[in-house]
Amino acid sequence: MLSLKGLTLPSGVLQSPLAACTDLAFRLVARRRGMEYAFLEMVSAHALVQKNGKTLDMLKTVAEDKPLGAQLVGCDPARMGEAAAIVEGLGFDSVDVNFGCPVPKVTGGGDGAGSAMLRQPERAEAIFKAMVSAVKKVPVTVKMRTGYADASGLEAVEIAKRAEACGLSAVTVHGRTREQKYQGKADYDAIGRVKAAVKIPVIGNGDVASAADARRLLSASGCDAVMIGRGGMGNPWIYRNVALGLAELSSEPYVPTIDERRDALLEHLALEEALESAWHAVVTMRRVVCWYTTGIPGGAEFRSRFCQAKTSAEQRALIHEFFGAAARREPVPA
Ligand SMILES: Cc1cc2nc3c(=O)[nH]c(=O)nc-3n(C[C@H](O)[C@H](O)[C@H](O)COP(=O)(O)O)c2cc1C
Repeated sequence: MLSLKGLTLPSGVLQSPLAACTDLAFRLVARRRGMEYAFLEMVSAHALVQKNGKTLDMLKTVAEDKPLGAQLVGCDPARMGEAAAIVEGLGFDSVDVNFGCPVPKVTGGGDGAGSAMLRQPERAEAIFKAMVSAVKKVPVTVKMRTGYADASGLEAVEIAKRAEACGLSAVTVHGRTREQKYQGKADYDAIGRVKAAVKIPVIGNGDVASAADARRLLSASGCDAVMIGRGGMGNPWIYRNVALGLAELSSEPYVPTIDERRDALLEHLALEEALESAWHAVVTMRRVVCWYTTGIPGGAEFRSRFCQAKTSAEQRALIHEFFGAAARREPVPA
């Protein structure tokens, strides 16, 4: 269980923010299958304060999509405070700040936002203070990597201590440096160094694709909760599997049937169609379809045809055709 300033998450299993992935359709498909807490993808504090239409659209949600955190990226303390107050006013259940994004456009050569903030502890502290004083009720948290280039975890320790002193409710640590991007294995011992340094809850993140992975992360790091990132793509059953596994209520993960996979994919498509512009939905589904069909025989050829389709209706017909053929070819891989 994870408790953060009035927010209680019984399972302690959270979905991480994933840019261009964890949109409203993704979250609804996952919530209907057991996801307890999710984040929007990161949004720019600057763009939010400017009331940029595209940014406001990224914040869209519905009553079923709760509880839900928003994540801000930026490096100007005053603007981060302003944006945090906007997010709280819109009804989000927590406000997170992104100190992990490795993309040069965000890090600005090392003195900008995202993971570049790991090397600017004083500025990080000013951001924390501005956000905590702007937000009245909901928890403020930070999600970071273990370091910018230093893999020891000590940069994250420094940031976590300042976060705690400023009144943040929790820190999340992805067990890789900015330089590592997504390569190699997440370092759970480095996450553990952060856990040992602060009293506020620490949420561990990196390479959790099963309950066994989550158990390994928790026992190596001593963390209070786990955050799943890429493991949730095309696998909306993962949250329940991990939660039941951690609670020792089930040792066997639930493996969806081929029909359940098809239905989740069709549901994702229908939601994209209903919630986004027609072309945006088509393009988004080109990514989503890869997640759901990897490992199914004939998938590569199907995906190439799927990516030529120009409408959601064509995409839907192709999904029925592909999964119909796959279902006739038992056994279906897990
Ligand atoms: C496509 C993609 C988009 C991401 N977008 C964000 C983001 O917006 N904010 C963030 O804090 N992390 C983002 N991340 C990092 C993930 O949230 C997570 O920390 C990382 O993937 C490690 O966890 P995992 O091994 O479970 O995927 C992104 C990762 C990927 C692959």
